[in-house]
Amino acid sequence: MKGKKWILAEKFEGEPSPRNFKLVEEDIDENLKDGEVICEAVYLSVDPYMRFFVDDVGDVLRGEQLAKIVRSKNPDFKVGSLVLGFFGWRSLTKVSDLSKMKPMPNLGDLSPSLALGALGLPGLTAYFGVFDVLKVKPGQTFVVTAGAGATGSIAGQIAKLKGCKVIGFAGSKEKCDLIRKYGFDYAFNYKEVTLREAMATAAPEGVDCYFDNVGGEFTNTILSFMKTKGRIAICGSISTYGMDDNQPTGPLPYHTVLKKTLTLQAFLGIHYRAEFPSALNEMIQWVKEGKIKYQETITDGFDNMVDAFIGLFKGSNLGKAIVKC
Ligand SMILES: NC(=O)c1ccc[n+]([C@@H]2O[C@H](COP(=O)([O-])OP(=O)(O)OC[C@H]3O[C@@H](n4cnc5c(N)ncnc54)[C@H](OP(=O)(O)O)[C@@H]3O)[C@@H](O)[C@H]2O)c1
Repeated sequence: MKGKKWILAEKFEGEPSPRNFKLVEEDIDENLKDGEVICEAVYLSVDPYMRFFVDDVGDVLRGEQLAKIVRSKNPDFKVGSLVLGFFGWRSLTKVSDLSKMKPMPNLGDLSPSLALGALGLPGLTAYFGVFDVLKVKPGQTFVVTAGAGATGSIAGQIAKLKGCKVIGFAGSKEKCDLIRKYGFDYAFNYKEVTLREAMATAAPEGVDCYFDNVGGEFTNTILSFMKTKGRIAICGSISTYGMDDNQPTGPLPYHTVLKKTLTLQAFLGIHYRAEFPSALNEMIQWVKEGKIKYQETITDGFDNMVDAFIGLFKGSNLGKAIVKC
């Protein structure tokens, strides 16, 4: 069998560009040992972290996919069943190490692609960021950046469900309209408004909880609007990923952090994986009841993986970015 994979052709410098990637064919040995399976990608997740979780030129880009078992010598994984696997940007994967995959959760009538978005890592990251890191309470003022993205759109909706006043920032009118429809109290296109003016309008009382997906100058400004004892969940820093090892070194806004006795906590959704099943049940219920809404931007074709990925850094995606094989 012949599969395809995307490898790193040139190390990233600044924003990702097509020259960083190369599509190559690989032979998949169909002779399986006991326990092994071969999986064919159905949907591939497209995520910002892929920008920095690749090590060397020639390595396969990392990432999660929803895949179908097409050959199996494992009674627990029958041909035709769906799995979630961290196989990287591969169209076909021979799996010997079963710790890299798990059965598809039961989403009932919902689209299986949601297991990579609202009901996958981004959605669960939002869940634990809102509940465990920010510990939101009804009546609090909550700000989220990249607010129309896979993680931000879910974080804002969960905070709204829990009775917060929710302020979202996103990079287009279409994105702001969408999150207003989701129930956000305020949505600002940060390309058209001054951040300070937006914050003064929407949160004159100050901010209790900040779900930070963007970092950089954005965050420095929002920090100055935090209330005393405010909490910040550092989920991502997409505005600085292009700086690689030359991240700004400061001065860090310690004065503001100290004066307001703020709590800043970085977190990774994946570290909560032991708690995923119960959170997922709650999230599935919310999605089925229409309390949590979602949007997907689906790009057709494994060969278009790079376009979808580069699009993340240009704001091309509305909701979760996915590639359909
Ligand atoms: N800690 C974790 O476990 C975890 C898990 C998932 C995601 N994350 C982080 O969460 C953030 C969002 O990830 P996601 O997967 O949900 O992706 P996403 O928000 O669906 O897509 C990325 C979005 O970021 C915005 N963006 C890109 N460059 C920007 C810039 N320079 N300044 C401001 N906004 C920019 C764009 O939206 P606009 O059009 O609105 O600019 C883009 O659509 C990322 O920082 C990611 O690394 C962390």
